[in-house]
Amino acid sequence: MKLATVVFEGRQGVAEITVPAGERLLYCGLRHGLNLGHECASGTCGTCKAMLVSGQVGSLWPEAPGNRYVRPERDEFLMCQAIAESDVHVKVRPAVPAPVDLPVPGILQGVIRKYENLTSDVAQFELKLSQPVRFLAGQFITVNIDGIAGYRAYSMTSYSPRATDALSFVVKRIAGGKFTEWLFTGDRDGAAVTGFGPLGRAVFAPDKDGSIIALAGGSGIAGIMAILRHASDSGHLEQYEAQLVFGLNRPQDVFFLGTLNELAAKHSNLRVVIALVDINESDALQQQFPELEFEQGYLHEISRMKLQNLDEVTTAFLAGPPVAVDAAREMLIKDKGFSARKMRFDRFG
Ligand SMILES: Cc1cc2nc3c(=O)[nH]c(=O)nc-3n(C[C@H](O)[C@H](O)[C@H](O)COP(=O)(O)OP(=O)(O)OC[C@H]3O[C@@H](n4cnc5c(N)ncnc54)[C@H](O)[C@@H]3O)c2cc1C
Ligand code: FES
Repeated sequence: MKLATVVFEGRQGVAEITVPAGERLLYCGLRHGLNLGHECASGTCGTCKAMLVSGQVGSLWPEAPGNRYVRPERDEFLMCQAIAESDVHVKVRPAVPAPVDLPVPGILQGVIRKYENLTSDVAQFELKLSQPVRFLAGQFITVNIDGIAGYRAYSMTSYSPRATDALSFVVKRIAGGKFTEWLFTGDRDGAAVTGFGPLGRAVFAPDKDGSIIALAGGSGIAGIMAILRHASDSGHLEQYEAQLVFGLNRPQDVFFLGTLNELAAKHSNLRVVIALVDINESDALQQQFPELEFEQGYLHEISRMKLQNLDEVTTAFLAGPPVAVDAAREMLIKDKGFSARKMRFDRFG
């Protein structure tokens, strides 16, 4: 079957869309501007679950971890992994409202360039796109390469107020991970990538946000870098405070500290604390990056100790591995009485 008709039925109405063979229902619906619930867009979170009313859908990844949130006896399935195998009718849930209107995502084509290792297991690269794309600080895209099944989500570290054909990323190597092992074990400059995006609601909205805090674990700093760049360029940091706690393991794992040091030197309203689990060489780091504070401990512990004036904070951004994000979220709610409604987060898994 080359094309299928998919009826998306939600509380906000009904839309009928023609889906090309093999396209994920979530991506097709989002591409047509539908407001469909989703978070990771890559099979882990379960947020995109929908209910099949009629017709047949197939799963591109039956073992997707997000399936633990799905009840097959109720004909539920993950839209980010589903393709239409006939004309179908599905019931969908709306997405959590975003603080601003989001750009409509689309299919992206690009090539990797400017690949550079930042540490033994962290690298940055740029994706040169065939068409410019507009995105908001804090958003991500999903990427796929030939030979590796599925899409992986990566947040842009760069920010541009206009549509751009160059997106920057920082990626942590995961032992045994298919995409990251591929990325780190060969010359990838020029490699072709298919993507989808921009996606993500954990975006910075300078007109609505005031003082902000950001808690980033490891490569979770990616989208936060874009947010700080936007806050710096837009003059937001002249008016409001920003506090960042960036959690890393050891001194040899640090990256982006030069850029953060420059931003902190430029803006007296920006405070940056680096939380290192193992800190034996902190004196050398302190000398090299005098605008940053270094503390020993886990992200949530140091955040509990160092974050100030939370009453004035309108928005908290949390990003990184699920264990770090969940601990930071719980600390903010339980120990600081911070409202969950003021949090925007990206769990990297
Ligand atoms: C919103 C978001 C933003 C993220 N941003 C970043 C970032 O900026 N930097 C960073 O380093 N990491 C980021 N991640 C994590 C990243 O998406 C990957 O999970 C990570 O890089 C590991 O990928 P891997 O292929 O090496 O590992 P793998 O374990 O091989 O795969 C990890 C992920 O790929 C997908 N996947 C795996 N196998 C399949 C399959 N057979 N079919 C379909 N899908 C499959 C799943 O989503 C799975 O969780 C982000 C994650 C999310 C959800
Ligand atoms: S959006 Fe489909 S599982 Fe996360």
